[in-house]
Amino acid sequence: MNLTCSQHAHFLRRTCIFIDTSPAWGLHLILLCLLTVVPVGIPYKQLTVGVPREIFQNELRVALSPAGVQALIKQGFNVVVESGAGESAKFHDQMYAEAGATIRDTKDVLASDVLVKVRAPMLNSALGAHEVDLMKDGATLISFIYPAQNPELMNLLSQKKATVLAMDQVPRVTIAQGYDALSSMANIAGYKAVVLAANNFGRFFTGQITAAGKVPPAKVLIIGGGVAGLAAAGTARAMGAIVRGFDTRAAALEQFKSLGAEPLEVDVKESGEGQGGYAKEMSKEFIEAEMKLFAKQCLDVDILISTALIPGRKAPVLISKDMVESMKDGSVVVDLAAEAGGNIETTVPGELSVHKGVVHVGYTDLPSRLPTQSSTLYSNNITKLIRAISPDKENFYYDVKDMFDYGTMDHVVRGSVVMQDGKVLFPAPQPNNVPVAAPAKTKSVQEIAAEKAATISPFRATLTTAGVYTGGETEGCLTPTSCCLGL
Ligand SMILES: NC(=O)c1ccc[n+]([C@@H]2O[C@H](COP(=O)([O-])OP(=O)(O)OC[C@H]3O[C@@H](n4cnc5c(N)ncnc54)[C@H](O)[C@@H]3O)[C@@H](O)[C@H]2O)c1
Repeated sequence: MNLTCSQHAHFLRRTCIFIDTSPAWGLHLILLCLLTVVPVGIPYKQLTVGVPREIFQNELRVALSPAGVQALIKQGFNVVVESGAGESAKFHDQMYAEAGATIRDTKDVLASDVLVKVRAPMLNSALGAHEVDLMKDGATLISFIYPAQNPELMNLLSQKKATVLAMDQVPRVTIAQGYDALSSMANIAGYKAVVLAANNFGRFFTGQITAAGKVPPAKVLIIGGGVAGLAAAGTARAMGAIVRGFDTRAAALEQFKSLGAEPLEVDVKESGEGQGGYAKEMSKEFIEAEMKLFAKQCLDVDILISTALIPGRKAPVLISKDMVESMKDGSVVVDLAAEAGGNIETTVPGELSVHKGVVHVGYTDLPSRLPTQSSTLYSNNITKLIRAISPDKENFYYDVKDMFDYGTMDHVVRGSVVMQDGKVLFPAPQPNNVPVAAPAKTKSVQEIAAEKAATISPFRATLTTAGVYTGGETEGCLTPTSCCLGL
């Protein structure tokens, strides 16, 4: 008996043909049967991934690095890259070609089967067409999308019968840390915030005693201990500054401490823990109390980096004009919440400005200002996501389920896929078995300060820092540092 089997991906079925050559039958009997209805997807080698040049103003990132191209080619895909797409990130056409990609023009690349981008598709004024109009019908798009904020874009994509994976919707769960582009970018923003603050500050960050005189260390206050705030704390500590941190979530205060920053507290006992590890909006009483704390700190600190955000809301204003004016001449404030309205009353979003001697960094594109680093990490996030959602060796497929458990790959796939064949799937339904986080034990600053840190080797300290920056706290895990590292 001979058996041949061909896979017709478009019907998502495995079609098998039996050819019975047994002499007992006296004739060759050919049986055609549909053996299985298991989805098998499309062979990678039939699919082309396209990497266009980003056209958003001042965007220097690119969605795939040459190493990312190599990884996708190894998986079986063909890759086309728009000429000049990686130039600003120092990835030249030749590097992409050496990695196995074909260099093509804009239209060819946008018409790929799988389009990978950093910024959501937009109008390409040079071509007089929206990038979505140049996509092929039924293509897959992987990009930052922010579906709640972009209903018109979702509409356009739906008309194209597109399938869309939104990098901003990858659930913030442990299994998805490798594809968490929000964390990768926030980590870079936190680092760059400190570098920009140092660039605009007239003194060292570290203290020194030299023959020419004693230099006091700079004092840095960080408001908000999410991924960006913790990266800023670690970077400022590494540069030798005295660092203080404040957050509404008790777990974030512990993370500040694990990075060598002094956690600050207010007297009002109110937990800032919201859904899924994110912060909730605080009471008026709490905001007043923290603003009182910041008013005192503004008289003392040299640098203030603010990162306080509430998902889907305008950022709370925590530093008033009066507080800024009370800061020392030459102080620097960096408002990482500028794009969401800003935490600092005097910030000009998108600008570097000076108010009464205090330099304000209000840039809203910090990851793009480190384009090689951010493109490398974003590329890793994308390639890991593609590999994880389609682990089959031969074929590209993924299975979007409406019933799924929290923290599983099904959760990741359902959360990330915001549209399938033009059907809007956003927002994702609640997963089953959402863990109920044990209530964070609120420790007083004195308790935290009194806790003796175990002796930390330089290697372990570096690992700890890296894990805290990018992992954040893991769900249901109250010792996030060790939990992220699996220690
Ligand atoms: N499990 C994982 O794999 C994983 C990965 C990444 C992030 N996370 C968690 O997700 C959450 C969100 O992280 P993010 O970096 O996107 O945060 P974010 O950018 O949404 O917010 C930044 C920080 O601002 C704080 N904040 C909000 N209002 C404030 C106020 N009034 N005063 C002071 N601080 C205020 C928040 O508590 C948060 O820590 C965090 O808990 C993080 O640890 C988990």
